[in-house]
This record gives sequence, C-alpha cells and structure tokens, in this order.
Amino acid sequence: MSKSAELARLIRVYTGDEGPEIGLVLGSGLGHLAQEVEGIAIPYSDLPGFPQAGVSGHNPNLVIGTLEGVRVAVFGGRAHYYERGNPDEMRLPLETLRALGCDKLLLTNAAGSLRADIPPGALMMLNDHMNFSGLNPLIGEPSDARFVPLTDAHDAQMRAALSHAAQAEGLPLAEGVYGWFSGPSFETPAEIRAARILGADAVGMSTVPEIILARFLGLRVAAVSVITNMGAGLKPDEAISHEQTKAMAPVGAAKLEKILRRYLQSL
Ligand code: HPA
Repeated sequence: MSKSAELARLIRVYTGDEGPEIGLVLGSGLGHLAQEVEGIAIPYSDLPGFPQAGVSGHNPNLVIGTLEGVRVAVFGGRAHYYERGNPDEMRLPLETLRALGCDKLLLTNAAGSLRADIPPGALMMLNDHMNFSGLNPLIGEPSDARFVPLTDAHDAQMRAALSHAAQAEGLPLAEGVYGWFSGPSFETPAEIRAARILGADAVGMSTVPEIILARFLGLRVAAVSVITNMGAGLKPDEAISHEQTKAMAPVGAAKLEKILRRYLQSL
C-alpha cells in the first residue's frame, strides 16, 4: 500500500469513511479558521511523513470536519521549500488528501504586493503565477505524468465561485499574478522591480509548489493571497519583516474568512 493510502486509512479511523470535499491550506497568520472547524485535529507529528518542521505563525495540525456544512480538511501549516530545501515537502499531504477522495484544494498565503491599488490588508486571488525560483516539486518524478500542463492551473470554476462569494460579502477581491521566490530572505528592490516589469502583481515564498503538485495529482486548485506589505523598495520608509507579515495577516484573514465561508456555502 502506498504511504498516502496508509495515511488515508489511518485518518479514516478518526473521521469515518466520508472524505473531505475540499482541502484548505492556511498560510502565515491565517490559522484561525482551523479552530472554527467542527471535527478533529490530528497533529502532523501523528502522521508519518508529514512535514515536521515549523514556521512561526503556522499551526501544524490537519483538521478534518465540517465548516458551513461542508466536509473540509484544513492544513493548519504548510512546509516551505526554504525550510529544508525540498520543493516537494507538501507532496505526501496532498497525496493523502487525494487518497481521502478529495478533488478540490484552496490555498492561502501571505504575500507582498507590487501594486499600489492592492495595499496591505487587501486580498488577491491568483489568476496565474510565475515561478522565479527555478525549482519544481516534480523534479525526480519518473512517470510521464510529470509533464503537467499549467495553462489552466488556476481553476476557472473555483475562481468564479470565489469572486461571487466576495461580491456577495461586499468585499473586494483583486486578481493577479503571483511570483514565487524561494525565500527565506525577502526580495531585493531590484528583484521586485524586475518581477513587476515581468508581470507579477504579488510575490511570496509558497503556494506555487502546491499548485504544481495539485495539478499533478488531479486536484482542482485555486489560491488567495493576503497582502501583508508592499514589495521591497516600494515603500522605502517601511521595513519588511516576518513580524510585519504575522501582524498584518489577520487584517486580511478576517475578510478572507468571510469569503471562504460564503464560498463553502455555495458548494
Ligand atoms: N515577499 C515574499 N514573501 C512574502 C512577502 C514579501 O514581500 N510578504 C509576505 N510574504
């Protein structure tokens, strides 16, 4: 039996047979939603092969239960490439989600904005992405399935439903292109200027590997960034820091939570 099938069997012992309809990955400072789920929290440390390293602002539990009447699997923490140098750290968690019968994934993250009209506290749904890292979670994957098309990676139907949910809540939800930098250092002002010229609207250190893995695994996927700061050099009087990310994330997260709840009601 594959590792993910074994983990799915283990998880079903806690949750019963009915699998989650959607998986949610919560980014830095966005963990509150996990506490709102009626269900059980399984620490990653009880799930062999799940990422054990942690970033402050993340909560390493898999919470399975219901939110707004929908069966959800909430990943309270994600592993990033910059933690241990593995771009495929989230492969087993996402394979396990798939093995539980789930076919949709919604990713959230904290990001720096490159656009004055998407300021800190705002939300940006990804309509595409750019991989500035040169890394890929599928390097080493031997099957031909590794040649994943990413033309329509950001699921049109999920995006339309999220936009609709935002409108229904009366909350602005910008759309744009997310650029993945490996981190953990923040970008330089020159990198931010270059990313802007190339068409990025926001930058961050996560999410793109999971989008690639999700498409590889046949999961439909969409992602939303909570803007916590302007990109390096765009606001010279403001220092960029992880503290700022954690402090600003809850501002956008409160709005994102309303949109996500409304979105779940539409499923
Ligand atoms: N750059 C990269 N990652 C980030 C940023 C940023 O400015 N803000 C939050 N995560």
